[in-house]
Amino acid sequence: ASVGVIVVAAGSGTRLGYGLPKAQVPLAGEPILAHALRGVLAAGVAARICVAVPAGDTVLRKLCAGFAAQHPDVVISTVDGGASRAASVAAALRGLGDGVDAVLVHDAARALTPPEVFQRVAAALAAGARAVVPAVAVVDTIKTARPSTGAEADIAPEKVAATVDRAHLRAVQTPQGFDAAALARAHESLAGLGPGEADGITDEALLMERGGVDVMLVPGSAQALKITTQLDLAVAEALLAARQP
Ligand code: CTP
Ligand code: MG
Repeated sequence: ASVGVIVVAAGSGTRLGYGLPKAQVPLAGEPILAHALRGVLAAGVAARICVAVPAGDTVLRKLCAGFAAQHPDVVISTVDGGASRAASVAAALRGLGDGVDAVLVHDAARALTPPEVFQRVAAALAAGARAVVPAVAVVDTIKTARPSTGAEADIAPEKVAATVDRAHLRAVQTPQGFDAAALARAHESLAGLGPGEADGITDEALLMERGGVDVMLVPGSAQALKITTQLDLAVAEALLAARQP
């Protein structure tokens, strides 16, 4: 079966606060996207890769062209991303074209995702799953909160509503893998959404769940952390330093 990988790299990186699109931000001297693409290629699962970059970006397009030149066996293309992550995925789905049976959707921000995670997701798809997500157990105790009222509000703005049973909680990562036709159908259902609504679609698995498709979980990795804040960038730098021989 032929696998296409979408890498969404069109975000602005507001929370990282670097003054550059996040995929351009240097990590151990190279743009975050370079690390992400190297991970995808090391996994060896992709026949095609389509990268969604910020509209008008030339730095990341040039980077992708460099990877394409070094990897003639894989079709590597770029498209302009959209205003939301979901819109960027939709654009990259069109960019990937019709020739793939399965699609992995990956965040460039999860730049250090080990190749094994891609391979686990691809293997579950090959074994017949229609939707596959890497996940890790949640280590924190999680509580829901509600607003304090009356005199309580002078003490603290919120109070605990309930404690969630952690045993059933999973933090999900990318790459998320899907049957190509099922993902395309799910994305068609989004076509009418406004940008505000699209912001609530934080992953593709959600669309599958809504459509009644079983989403299988495979082990993720702590190394697949999403670089969101300065703290995450520091952690990623440390992980990379520890990887050097
Ligand atoms: N993404 C995208 N297009 C968007 C928004 C996000 O391709 N319009 C991508 C990002 O590039 C990232 C992934 O989706 O690889 C996860 O998004 P996030 O971590 O939120 O990245 P940013 O949106 O760039 O960061 P922020 O929300 O802090 O601005
Ligand atoms: Mg964002």
